[in-house]
Amino acid sequence: MTKPVLIINGPNLNQLGAREPEIYGEQTLDEIDKLCQKIGLELGLTTDFRQSNNEGEIVDWVQESILQHSSIIINGGAYSHTSIAILDALRNITIPIIEVHLSNIYQRESYRQVSYISKAANGVICGFGSDSYELALRAAYKLL
Ligand code: DQA
Repeated sequence: MTKPVLIINGPNLNQLGAREPEIYGEQTLDEIDKLCQKIGLELGLTTDFRQSNNEGEIVDWVQESILQHSSIIINGGAYSHTSIAILDALRNITIPIIEVHLSNIYQRESYRQVSYISKAANGVICGFGSDSYELALRAAYKLL
């Protein structure tokens, strides 16, 4: 049986639904988790969906994924644009990594247009709202 896909959500993504809905949409993170479970079921993949506001905790999860997961989907939130620590952790694993963002970061402020996570990711999906997660799961399936 394939190991679960680890889906990591970074800071402030626990506020989805209430947080700038005109940018991030109205769905809550819990609803996105359920969407991922449903798509996973279709594809024959299990998902391990997590959120943290703490950079070090995300680094720990990436390190642990080496043994426990088949691939990583990561929305690093603002850490995408700042965290060399998360990049270093991602560079040290060999399973597929897909970066996602709800918004199209390339249409936004210049400080959001650079992502450290992209340097370690197999690919990036952004700008499709919660559908970015569905597309990322389908990409993970193809890479496995
Ligand atoms: C985000 C984009 C980031 O710039 C922002 O800090 C987030 C969400 C997105 O999903 O569009 O927290 O990662």
